Amino acid sequence: MTTDGELVLLVFSDAHYASAAEKAKGEREYEVILSAPLRLFVKCFRRFIWLRQPHAHNHLLDRFLAIAGEPDLVVGNGDYSCDSGFVGVVNEAAYISVREVFDKLHSRFPGRFQANYGDHELGKMSLFGGQGGPRLASWERSQAELGMRPFWRLTLGNYCLIGVTSSLVALPVYEPETLPEELETWRRLREHHLGEIEQAFRELRPNQQAILFCHDPTALPWLWRLPEIRAKACQLEMTWIGHLHSPLFLWKSRLLAGMPTISFLGNSIRRMSAALHEARCWKNFNVRLCPSLAGTQLLKDGGFFEIRLQPSAQKPPRVIWHPLPWK
Ligand SMILES: [Fe+2]
Ligand SMILES: [Fe+2]
Repeated sequence: MTTDGELVLLVFSDAHYASAAEKAKGEREYEVILSAPLRLFVKCFRRFIWLRQPHAHNHLLDRFLAIAGEPDLVVGNGDYSCDSGFVGVVNEAAYISVREVFDKLHSRFPGRFQANYGDHELGKMSLFGGQGGPRLASWERSQAELGMRPFWRLTLGNYCLIGVTSSLVALPVYEPETLPEELETWRRLREHHLGEIEQAFRELRPNQQAILFCHDPTALPWLWRLPEIRAKACQLEMTWIGHLHSPLFLWKSRLLAGMPTISFLGNSIRRMSAALHEARCWKNFNVRLCPSLAGTQLLKDGGFFEIRLQPSAQKPPRVIWHPLPWK
């Protein structure tokens, strides 16, 4: 808490930390792209726009920890590893990355770190190579060995912080990437998860404001279908998303909101265009994007956010951006 009596909440996202085991594997995404022109396109996109050396930014997590001060709570909004196996933390190298991130966070902020799920903890099909996808073994290991909670709720003054697992909420979009024998279990998990979210919004007291954490905005249209969320929309102070890595892609998403779903260019394009098709509903959530710690190669626009909250929730929170220079 500050001397002004404000509560301090820090949000970071998409650390994409690389353990030594993930570094040793190298960049596997190119290996699984069979088409040479597509491989060239992806290489150019990675080199000049997205992130040239995805394994070379671990120091930004340490820099964040060094300048973070003493907040009341730190929320990680998902995607802690490089997910080099494309199947989440059931892959040992990806597991070690997440383990290292969590060990650093827990020792720096004892009892004050809350991890939210990203898509890469559970597994995600490689962007163009069509390999991997969500795996139940990663779902189980992330909870049993990393202590992650798919749904969580914390109270800070009159604020109710709610964390959801976007891959589960948006399962209808991710279904083609799951293993057929696991699909029914994923669907049951989703139903249970939606029930928890509905209950949390039902139980919001009139004097409370909600702050929602949802890594992938693809899940927002599915959340908007829940009557409990619509009924309490006026109490939804803000929704923190990650996943897009840069305001550049949030801007692009808003520009493309409403575009048709493209289903003939592979799973990743289908998933992304389906998300954009319904992106107009994002405004109901007061969406705030937390970029990745590194940001993009093009703009080097990474960092983290500090949110200062009046415990009474009578005034809007103050949101402060902290850029993280690469050097
Ligand atoms: Fe990410
Ligand atoms: Fe993500």
